[in-house]
Amino acid sequence: MKYLKFLLCFVIIQVSAQQGGMWIPSLLEGMNEDEMQALGSEMTAKDIYDVNNSSLKDAIGHFNGGCTSEIISSKGLVLTNHHCGYGEIQSHSSLENDYLKHGFWAMRLEDELPNDDLFIEFIVRIEDVTAQVLNGMTASMTEKDKQSLITKNSNAIQKLVKKESWQDSKIKPFYKGNKYFMFITERFEDIRLVGAPPSSIGKFGSDTDNWVWPRHTGDFSLFRIYANKDNRPAKYSKENVPYKPKHYLPISLDGVEEGDFTLVFGFPGRTNEYLPAVALAHITQDYNPSNIAIREAALKVIDTKMKSSDAIRIKYASKQARIANAWKKWIGENLGIAKSDAVNQRIQFEDSFKKALKAKGLENKYGHILPEFDRLYKDFASVHKERRNFIEVFFVTNELMELTYRAYQMETTILKDPKNTDKAKATFSNHLKRIHKNYDITVDREVHKVVMPFIGQQPDISMYSNSALVNLDSAEDLLKTNDKKLLKALNKDAAYQYAKPIIEHFMTVTNTMYIKKNEPISALQTQYMTALMEALPDARYFPDANSTLRVTYGQVRGYTPRDAVYYNPITYLDGVMEKYVPGDYEFDVPEKLRRLHNTKDYGQYADANGQLPICFLGTNHTTGGNSGSPAIDAKGNLIGLNFDRVWEGTMSDINYDPEICRNIMVDLRYVLFIIEKYGGANHLIEEMDLVHPKKK
Ligand code: ARG
Ligand code: ASP
Repeated sequence: MKYLKFLLCFVIIQVSAQQGGMWIPSLLEGMNEDEMQALGSEMTAKDIYDVNNSSLKDAIGHFNGGCTSEIISSKGLVLTNHHCGYGEIQSHSSLENDYLKHGFWAMRLEDELPNDDLFIEFIVRIEDVTAQVLNGMTASMTEKDKQSLITKNSNAIQKLVKKESWQDSKIKPFYKGNKYFMFITERFEDIRLVGAPPSSIGKFGSDTDNWVWPRHTGDFSLFRIYANKDNRPAKYSKENVPYKPKHYLPISLDGVEEGDFTLVFGFPGRTNEYLPAVALAHITQDYNPSNIAIREAALKVIDTKMKSSDAIRIKYASKQARIANAWKKWIGENLGIAKSDAVNQRIQFEDSFKKALKAKGLENKYGHILPEFDRLYKDFASVHKERRNFIEVFFVTNELMELTYRAYQMETTILKDPKNTDKAKATFSNHLKRIHKNYDITVDREVHKVVMPFIGQQPDISMYSNSALVNLDSAEDLLKTNDKKLLKALNKDAAYQYAKPIIEHFMTVTNTMYIKKNEPISALQTQYMTALMEALPDARYFPDANSTLRVTYGQVRGYTPRDAVYYNPITYLDGVMEKYVPGDYEFDVPEKLRRLHNTKDYGQYADANGQLPICFLGTNHTTGGNSGSPAIDAKGNLIGLNFDRVWEGTMSDINYDPEICRNIMVDLRYVLFIIEKYGGANHLIEEMDLVHPKKK
């Protein structure tokens, strides 16, 4: 008996040590369920994902394809991050109604603000369709034939699948194409803005604190899903009513302490955890640094201009945040990879893989993979970098260059078939409107000057005084003529003349070469995944993130970023005040929040010591796209809102290390405190289901 107890204890320790991974919600029974329970969960796999009964997954929505959101009331109230709703908050903002600066609270349903093109998508069910997708595939087929077979099979499966008329389906590869899953989805398109704190709360600490712990950001915003009278997805209409969800998350008022179980449920975008060492080295020593440099140059211009004018600040807020976010992340990623000696560790891992191949007699089958990676990457590195640098200039930083690219797409479409002229013009016109909505020529001209040299081009700022594209009206005037005149005028335009040869080189040389050289690498990566699972079958493999619904779990935990330093996993409002710098664009604190802090007016949201918690850390394996994901406690209640990761662990997309990789969540009590005590939006709190799972 004693022996058995000892053994059990050992098993539990073994299991609880296993963390990391983003798991497919329909496959949690077995290992994941055991691990979760060993970490403290009281939920079953079916509580999280069930097809026949409502379950947690019914409350989790993909927010605009890039973030995650969750339903928190029976009236379709939705919570996501401030930085996820940022574009919408910005688009309703003006100098008179500056919601970015002052926040926004709809006091009645009628005040909730509709948003063009915003959608939230839910997963109805997930099916393993690997056998059907790979049906007919043989080893001797070329990559191209394999891909077209996969497309053909996938289309056939989706044609036959049983679903309701308002539902959609999609099929996605997992484990580098070793498995395929189909998702039946429901997309809601009438999503209205309900509330947002001022940026001094929702983006407190801004770029300085971004990707950093200790953190004090109230990174949340509120939306509401509207449905038609049958409770089905519908386009915006005044007649639509608040959506009645299958499930919404109750909210725990009891908070977390170190060691508590946490589950993060959401739509992680992209990870690459099974790269060979040669790829890790290329990305962090060559590829990242070049892209960091381009963004850094652009940011210097944009930041200065934003500080000089409120109008520019509003126009460029969203764009600046996007550019700065990845810029800082890549720097952290490089530092983390270097500090943890990840490239050498990966080489050591590859040695054990090679040994396993030998021991299992698999050398003939798979022995070629690693040397082949080395050879292919040597050849691929420069074009990979060159292609991305072009993208950074033409799509991320220099807006006039993006417009020339869109014009080039229009021209190509028209030349291919003049019948498509109207469609091509309309697409171009949409791009014009999107870019000019938040355009400042003085910013873009300076950006042009500093970024072009990174792709080996001499900048030419004279076109900013000559081109029709820098102004919405003159650009749209171009479109008023017929196709021949349009193309003629376009080809006489100064900016277009400047950019067209650069774009043509990109399309015909760089991009073509990239596709050619990338294809054998991704095919080899598929084989490598198969080989790993065969040679080292006892390792714990999770599929890389691919913007599909995933579960990741862990515990609330601090970490040791460097020798002799330990970071506690919870921050408090006192810490906001420690960081307060009056008038600073990153660390100012609104007067009302200072008052609430002075009077300790925290209502029901303080912890047992009378402190107001702000953020906490967990060992959940997350990535971009997990922003806005709910952090759920052992019983299925909402306790936090995921929004970031810690600086020392930003490498987790390519090298997850459970020792130092942590996700950052806002404590839901801070969210509720801001809604009620700061925003005065008590009616929203009343809609929610507040619970005390820790109090008996
Ligand atoms: N780093 C977080 C994420 O990747 C938060 C970004 C938003 N905040 C910001 N200061 N840009 O999305
Ligand atoms: N902040 C990220 C997001 O927007 C989350 C992360 O990268 O950890 O999804």
